[in-house]
Amino acid sequence: MKIADLFKVEGYGVIVTGGASGLGLGFTEALAGNGARVTMLDIDEQRLATETERLRKRGYDVRGAVVDVRDHARLDQAFEEAVQAYGRLDVVFANAGIDSGPGFLREWVGANRTRNPDGALENYSDERWNKVIDVNLNGVFATMRAAARYMKPQKSGRIIVTTSLAALKCEAVIGAAYMAAKAGAAHLVRNVALELAGYNITVNAIAPGFFVTNIGGGHAHNPETQKTVSKHVPMHRVGFPRDIFGLALFLASPASAYITGQQIVIDGGWGLGEVD
Ligand SMILES: NC(=O)c1ccc[n+]([C@@H]2O[C@H](COP(=O)([O-])OP(=O)(O)OC[C@H]3O[C@@H](n4cnc5c(N)ncnc54)[C@H](O)[C@@H]3O)[C@@H](O)[C@H]2O)c1
Repeated sequence: MKIADLFKVEGYGVIVTGGASGLGLGFTEALAGNGARVTMLDIDEQRLATETERLRKRGYDVRGAVVDVRDHARLDQAFEEAVQAYGRLDVVFANAGIDSGPGFLREWVGANRTRNPDGALENYSDERWNKVIDVNLNGVFATMRAAARYMKPQKSGRIIVTTSLAALKCEAVIGAAYMAAKAGAAHLVRNVALELAGYNITVNAIAPGFFVTNIGGGHAHNPETQKTVSKHVPMHRVGFPRDIFGLALFLASPASAYITGQQIVIDGGWGLGEVD
């Protein structure tokens, strides 16, 4: 047997939430670029239309549907439409997520490593807390539930959740709701993995470090920000969506068939510590 065959996803039916941008678009490209048929679910109608067209021109078999993962009835409906369109559901990426605004410190390093009242616990609004939990945790729950409804009867499937390094370590510059949502999602991954293991469904998480995407208004595109972060990441560079292609393909393909309930960190070593 050729080892390359273990990574085959040709003909797979795939759903990616938040699939029109950043890491979700990376998952879409990695899978569709290897012959899978991918439905991108995203709240951003404009970006979804642009990216669907761009990928189709490249010959990829992709479709898009406008979905807010906070609307669970619409999410369920979009799953049904995707399965009807492609006839099967093999892999689901629960990836849609938002940032959470400021944390209690302004900057990680330097002179601006000062307290930020806007991110302080006593000033944290219910609205901000609930929105982040609703998208980043409740949205993951609803996506996993929708996936299980198809995968359990067919006794096969892959669920891959985008968590974060913030699920493992506290980040003073990121709002507290983000940490709570991501840690909650990471533990939910373990619990659902345990529940679904007997149905030949694997459930794993990808925990990225700093990646250049459009999250939080796209601040990661700022070269100064990239320079600052790169100084401290042990590999001395930030991540780009292409860095996630290999891991996405691994977790979606037969190569990872006996791995479940795991959270794989992809961060250039940042979680290990900081190196100047
Ligand atoms: N970029 C990073 O450094 C980083 C690090 C760790 C974890 N993550 C996680 O990666 C995931 C993807 O984020 P990204 O960095 O690619 O950001 P991004 O903003 O580039 O992409 C996120 C996509 O999700 C969509 N989305 C947002 N809210 C939605 C909703 N309610 N319903 C449906 N779609 C929605 C957005 O429209 C966007 O297309 C998120 O879960 C994020 O928390 C990102």
